[in-house]
Amino acid sequence: MGGKMLRLRLAIIAPLFLLVAFVGAAIADFNYDAYSYPKVFDVRRYGAKPDGKSDSSEAFLAAWNDACQYEGKARVVVPPGEYVTDTILFLGPCKGSMGFIMKGRLTPPDRLSHSDEWITFRYVNGLLVSGHGTFDGKGYVAPTPKPPAISLRFEFINDAVISHIRSLNSRNAHFQLFGSNKIRMHNLLIRAPGNSPNTDGIKIGASTDVHVTNSVIGTGDDCISILGKSSDIYVSQVLCGPGHGISVGSMGFYDNNAENDVVTDVTVTDCTFRGTSDGVRIKTWATANAGLVRNLTFSNIHLDSVDNPIVIDQEYCPYPPCKQVPSRIRIEDVTYDNVWGTSRTAVAVKLNCSKMYGCKGLVLRDINMVQKNGLDAVSFCSHAVGATHGVQKPSPCL
Ligand SMILES: *[C@@H]1O[C@H](CO)[C@@H](O)[C@H](O)[C@H]1NC(C)=O
Ligand SMILES: *[C@@H]1O[C@H](CO)[C@@H](O)[C@H](O)[C@H]1NC(C)=O
Repeated sequence: MGGKMLRLRLAIIAPLFLLVAFVGAAIADFNYDAYSYPKVFDVRRYGAKPDGKSDSSEAFLAAWNDACQYEGKARVVVPPGEYVTDTILFLGPCKGSMGFIMKGRLTPPDRLSHSDEWITFRYVNGLLVSGHGTFDGKGYVAPTPKPPAISLRFEFINDAVISHIRSLNSRNAHFQLFGSNKIRMHNLLIRAPGNSPNTDGIKIGASTDVHVTNSVIGTGDDCISILGKSSDIYVSQVLCGPGHGISVGSMGFYDNNAENDVVTDVTVTDCTFRGTSDGVRIKTWATANAGLVRNLTFSNIHLDSVDNPIVIDQEYCPYPPCKQVPSRIRIEDVTYDNVWGTSRTAVAVKLNCSKMYGCKGLVLRDINMVQKNGLDAVSFCSHAVGATHGVQKPSPCL
């Protein structure tokens, strides 16, 4: 090989190097963390055993704690295999952004050391929970009832992506968000038997800017429930069933100040409900607690064999004592746009509003529902005020 050839190669390679260095520098300048390779903290290196028996809690926690001290992008990785952990608190704040990459299957022991929680993430800024793995709460296979632990809690988390995770058979809610902001949840598979109590899919409380998209949720309670002090919630492409549908509330149960019972700016769009007890529902207890539900849109909703497709229930009281005073939760500006399908009961649209305030600014646009047996469905309104546009089946009562 002559010197000429070498020079030619250098002439080609050198600018390439410069280009790579330049682009690299530009990226580093722009957002180093987003483009850098993460440092992996493999729980097996910390002694976790994928034998489906040994308690790996300490190993998981040690991996998290080291990752949390790393000044860069850190990923706790759980390789394939079945692991068992007790209640774990993954605590921040951490020095860089964190990831928990579950590639295996995690199960709890029958008795958890904190009976109401299994896995909790708290005070983390920048969190990815992903990995195509499974959290199996083993809630219903027990010979004896198990204390109702929430499978995955996210408390005071900012800027998180929770995706490509399966959550099965929780003992209480599958996912619960509290005090969290900018949360993107997608490609989740959530399953519990239709008769398993309180197994909500995703409970959103005191949280803002939350998106739940492209997920399949079937449980014994609400697929998604949006609770007080939450706003800017976007739900799209969710298949719900079995379960109790997507709910705002319940609200007004606990005696607390008015600001706790406020939910605003919610969009639920392009969702399907199959065989659920309720479709899209707003529920408030008939108590004297004040609150506000405002600016909700339910659009492109398909209901397939749902007991109660559209529900506003301000007399919500699934178990006594029911106080029977008019609800003081105001419901305003709720739009139902392009809702179609079949109802298993005659009342496909039920708008039972507070005798004290009524509901204001309700909009029904292009509603097309019949009973499952082919008969016409009906609407029920009480203290409901608003407007209708386009197709209206059942005939409206607004
Ligand atoms: C209603 O909520 C949507 C988001 O769901 C938001 O874009 C819109 O600005 C809100 N409207 C008002 C009047 O607050
Ligand atoms: C509506 O609420 C009233 C109480 O205000 C209750 O008695 C009634 O049963 C409810 N109607 C329906 C159809 O749920």
